[in-house]
Amino acid sequence: MKRRSFLKGMAAAGATTLLPAGAVGGLLSACKNEAQPASPAWSFDEIIDRSGTWSIKYNRAKEGQLAMWIADMDFKTDPVVSAAMRERIDRDVIGYTYMPDDFAAAIQHWQRMQHNYEVPTEWIHFCPGVITSINQAYLTFSEPGDKIIVQTPVYNPFFDYARKLGRIPVENPLIFEDGHYRMDFDGLERLIDKRTKILVLCNPQNPAGILWPRETLARLAEICDRHGVLVISDEIHSDLNLFGKPHLPFCSVSDTAARVGIIFSSPSKSFNFAGLASIAYCIIPDEEKRTRYMDGLENAKLAEASVLSAIALIAAYSHEPVWLNDLKKYLEGNILRVEEFFREHELGIRAIRPEASFLCWLDCRGMGLSQKEVVDWFQEDAGVLINNGAMYGTGGEGFIRLNVGCPRSLVDEALSRLVR
Ligand SMILES: Cc1ncc(COP(=O)(O)O)c(C=O)c1O
Repeated sequence: MKRRSFLKGMAAAGATTLLPAGAVGGLLSACKNEAQPASPAWSFDEIIDRSGTWSIKYNRAKEGQLAMWIADMDFKTDPVVSAAMRERIDRDVIGYTYMPDDFAAAIQHWQRMQHNYEVPTEWIHFCPGVITSINQAYLTFSEPGDKIIVQTPVYNPFFDYARKLGRIPVENPLIFEDGHYRMDFDGLERLIDKRTKILVLCNPQNPAGILWPRETLARLAEICDRHGVLVISDEIHSDLNLFGKPHLPFCSVSDTAARVGIIFSSPSKSFNFAGLASIAYCIIPDEEKRTRYMDGLENAKLAEASVLSAIALIAAYSHEPVWLNDLKKYLEGNILRVEEFFREHELGIRAIRPEASFLCWLDCRGMGLSQKEVVDWFQEDAGVLINNGAMYGTGGEGFIRLNVGCPRSLVDEALSRLVR
């Protein structure tokens, strides 16, 4: 109770100061002020050695290739996160763990401070990774043979797992006009039928890094509500909103959205600890949906916390985001570099500015090459590993995704290889 009023007090005062150790429980005792020195203890320019760390990103890279594909960053995590985990490791106590109150309190605090979203404690639950949790929602809220709508180009596991789980993924491709994406609501109305149970929203959208406007989200909610379609909003990239543009949590935009939506999110992208794997949370305002979902998660034995994941989330979300704010500025710098490069060099490639995250969506249709030739040009000729846009469904052909979550020198090296 005391803890809640402390956090509320912080918000009311508009405070963004560091939460003192102990303010959200003993787990934070490792996160003392000295973990956040006045002059940063981090440099995003530093090349970190990932050899011997079982990195999926680098495992694919052949000698001399730059790994700029899968969505993790070549940066160390926020020192407050490692300090908190280190403290627990130093105690050598890693037994079965219940989810402490600090978990929901940290998420509440974070959503309020970062996204201006007031979330009651009971709406929040631990989840075992965003995709595992979305899959579990497919199982809970649809039957085999039911349809699940995806708005392509979009993160491919949304439709890959729908298919693997016996559901039918249906595409409602985004409309790309004048360098901007918007949703095709007429197409959506035409697509929905009695077997359509779920729409998966990527908010912000990966791969194009779109922060969806309020009117778009509200209209999507209204359409889905009218047809009894559940909206699953994947908000894993939301804490990396860039260039001063806000992220809007789907369920916050209207009462209808709160009734029809479920949010899944995680600090694993923004704080770069995706390797913890079992770390995410859901926000489910509607009680009936919440009970059904949590029952399903518990029955699948997926509702149990991984202790280090919980510690990492609490540490990341309970502090003033000094590291994260620095990171966002650095990413903006990398993105501007990429934009400028493709403006200056006429390669037939246009960079679409991501409004969130560290993934640049490059429109390569001006190169006059086939998709395979474009991909080979990046990967084999230039030695820059990227994600093939075609993997993200209709609308992805002609594009590639370049991960610039890395030191600027690597971005520069990749770009210079393209002209060489
Ligand atoms: C939109 C989106 N959702 C989910 C994930 C993966 O989340 P998790 O590792 O928690 O399953 C990613 C990873 O790139 C992603 O881009």
